[in-house]
Amino acid sequence: MDSKIPIMRARRFGVSRNKLGTIMKKQTIYNGEYINFNNEKLFLGEGKNSQRYDVLKYPFFDTMADRMMGQDWTHDEVNCVKDKQDFRYLSDAMKHAYTSVLQKLIFLDSIQGRGMLQTFGSIITLPELEACMTVWQHFEIDKHSKSYTHILRSVYDNPTEVFDASFRTPELVRLAGTVSEPYDRCFELVTEYNFRLLRGMDIPPAFEQELKQSLVRLFLEINILEGIRFYSGFATVWSMHYSQGLMERTGKVLQLICRDENLHLAISQYVLRLFRTVPEEGFREAYAFWQPGIQDMYSEAVEQEFAWVDYLFRHGSFLGMTPDLAKMYLRYLANKRLRAIGEQPLFEGLTQNPLEWVETYINNDLTENLPQESEILNYKVDILNQAVSDTELRELRAMLS
Ligand SMILES: [Fe+2]
Ligand SMILES: [Fe+2]
Repeated sequence: MDSKIPIMRARRFGVSRNKLGTIMKKQTIYNGEYINFNNEKLFLGEGKNSQRYDVLKYPFFDTMADRMMGQDWTHDEVNCVKDKQDFRYLSDAMKHAYTSVLQKLIFLDSIQGRGMLQTFGSIITLPELEACMTVWQHFEIDKHSKSYTHILRSVYDNPTEVFDASFRTPELVRLAGTVSEPYDRCFELVTEYNFRLLRGMDIPPAFEQELKQSLVRLFLEINILEGIRFYSGFATVWSMHYSQGLMERTGKVLQLICRDENLHLAISQYVLRLFRTVPEEGFREAYAFWQPGIQDMYSEAVEQEFAWVDYLFRHGSFLGMTPDLAKMYLRYLANKRLRAIGEQPLFEGLTQNPLEWVETYINNDLTENLPQESEILNYKVDILNQAVSDTELRELRAMLS
């Protein structure tokens, strides 16, 4: 009986395929066999074992994890009590827009705070990517989501009502349903994948392909979310400060959040580029499946965001921001994000930011800042930036431009 154990263990760990290409392996948290991480795949590789960062197939992910941690901040470091006084003086249109912005941001960061590792964390097989995603998710939960609660507690007499009311807002419920769909689809397929492995069932190539397609689709949605969906909200709140000197503290928290989202955006762009261009990662076919429809996907997202902007300004515009300006800005961002992933822009001739002043609030926008400038931030000393090589920064800037 004992003599069979090594054979069973050998079958239990690691990937093998039968003649039909069907995966025959068990999903494990720690694969006892040696894995050469120089050749390991981002997803669906040999499995997980040592969390080692001496061998880095893609140093970019390690660098980005360090950069995220290097710009650490705490959810309550900006005292938002002053904004409670400002809030009293906001017009009804501004009050509605401010509250709705927060309700939508709460949803976006909730899904990013929960959706990624729970959805595809079990099939990440490259340690530096897994570590990077873990830091990313930590920021979404422990910085961004917690900071919204901090803002609501500071500004509203009854913050619970603001949270609860978002579930009675059909416009937001509709948007939340659409955005979370790719997460749910990927989650279903990853769950089925793990179930099949744990039950010793086959993973047919067609099923594996469907799973890969769902992951590409999800990363495109993450790119849209991190690069477009946040921004009408950021710009709306910043416009209150820019034009009227109001809600400054909330604006500062959103600046900290936006600085993180820029790194998240860059990571999503990098993953999509690897999917598209590195055959060994095994995702080129899945990417090609979506590629003809990527422009339409972004166009649809822009339309959804336009509908949200209409809701945001349903009680009227205010000094510094109108629905038309917000929509123009969204068009500009869609163009920029599409170019960054190697796709054609949607809106011809729109290359200049129609809200140029917003750039002063996006203090970690590497498209606008030189590398040395990006380190001049008023927050905690970013000593970890020194770990970023000039080549990596050039690469990052090229991707974002
Ligand atoms: Fe976030
Ligand atoms: Fe994010």
